[in-house]
Amino acid sequence: MARETWATRAGFILAAVGSAVGLGNVWRFPFITGQEGGGAFLLVYLLFVALIGLPAILVEFVIGRRTELNPVGAIRDLGSGAWNYLGWLFVAIGFVILSYYSVVAGWFLRYTLIGVLDGYAVADTGEAQALFGTVATGIDTLLFHAVFMALVIGIIAAGVRRGIEIGVKIMVPAIVALLVGLAAYGFTLDASTAAYGYYLSPDFGYLAANWTSILPAAAGQAFFTLSLGMGVMITYASYLGEDRNLVADAGVIASLDTLVAVLVGFVVFPFLFAAGLEPGSGGPGGIFVSLTTAFAGIPGGRVLGVVFFGMVGIAALSSAISILEVLVSYLMDELGVSRVPASAALGVAVFLLGVPVTIDLIFLDLFDLLADGVLLVLGSLLLALFVGWVIPDIAREELSRGIGDLGPFGDVWIWIVRVPIVVVVAVSLYLGVVDYVE
Ligand code: PHE
Ligand code: NA
Repeated sequence: MARETWATRAGFILAAVGSAVGLGNVWRFPFITGQEGGGAFLLVYLLFVALIGLPAILVEFVIGRRTELNPVGAIRDLGSGAWNYLGWLFVAIGFVILSYYSVVAGWFLRYTLIGVLDGYAVADTGEAQALFGTVATGIDTLLFHAVFMALVIGIIAAGVRRGIEIGVKIMVPAIVALLVGLAAYGFTLDASTAAYGYYLSPDFGYLAANWTSILPAAAGQAFFTLSLGMGVMITYASYLGEDRNLVADAGVIASLDTLVAVLVGFVVFPFLFAAGLEPGSGGPGGIFVSLTTAFAGIPGGRVLGVVFFGMVGIAALSSAISILEVLVSYLMDELGVSRVPASAALGVAVFLLGVPVTIDLIFLDLFDLLADGVLLVLGSLLLALFVGWVIPDIAREELSRGIGDLGPFGDVWIWIVRVPIVVVVAVSLYLGVVDYVE
């Protein structure tokens, strides 16, 4: 059986952008930024995306395109010995991430439905918080988690071409447009000046005092938001049967993803400040509390809210499918299971793993901190070591396909992967583990 490839020339980049843009930008970015002190975190995060995220995307792309295999097979093909376990680590990470990702995506579906049925009738932030409390856990939460996983399974069972490419074209521009509109509204609030100060001017004293928590948080968020460290970009590049300029593609993906995240900050912080809430107090509910308060207060807020929460739900779907696709491609390539049963079996397993998260948010914290603060960072670190030190020549050659002569860029890239990435990520990982164990 011939291996599938993307249906259109734009299919690959659309799917990769679809994977990157998701809950990491809209839900996770603002609450981590709030927790880690605002502008100081934003600065470190942006540096991480540009200096470490971008070269790390290329690391995954070259492995996938070179081998045309799932992450487990790809690494086995290129390396040997203990490297085989790295692919399995990716599969394990995928399980953990998708299990809680789906629960949070279910919250967005639920808020969409609340808007359709009742509107966002909250009189103040207290009521908005109470509403979030009813959405966050419970039997209905489990139901929405099930619905979301069923959608993910359905799309992945249908195959890479049809499922993934269509939605992204409309969705990403629509999200950007909505966010710009909401940010403009946030700008009109009296609290916006204080919010922008908090968000945009890094407090270097704060950074110096808190770098041991800011660094791992920024590393984890950068890898999470770019879908790195668990083989998604390896898998997507494995369906590329063509010589694209991977550097240009990585630039587009990282730029769009960063644009969406930064815009979300321009929406969330003015509203949090206007409601008199501590920017770090929102936690996983921050985006919901601030936005429902906002939507309740503006004309047309109900329609805006339905469109916004619905769009984010779709964005979450295009990210979630990329995670399940890693697991499915592994079962298909390695064990010869066919697509439909593989999707169903893995999807149900992920659903079950997510059940505790729908019962108590403690598990959300636990899974999220483990996956993000530790596992994704570990996956990226090992992959950088592998590409930089085990297969540098293959990697350089593969990167040049579709570009031609790399000039000094090829060596610069390999050396960034070999030393600075490894060192910075290893330090972040160490700090992240210490944090997790505490
Ligand atoms: N990048 C996705 C987001 O920002 C999340 C994700 C992480 C997807 C890891 C795939 C792999 O929402
Ligand atoms: Na993202």
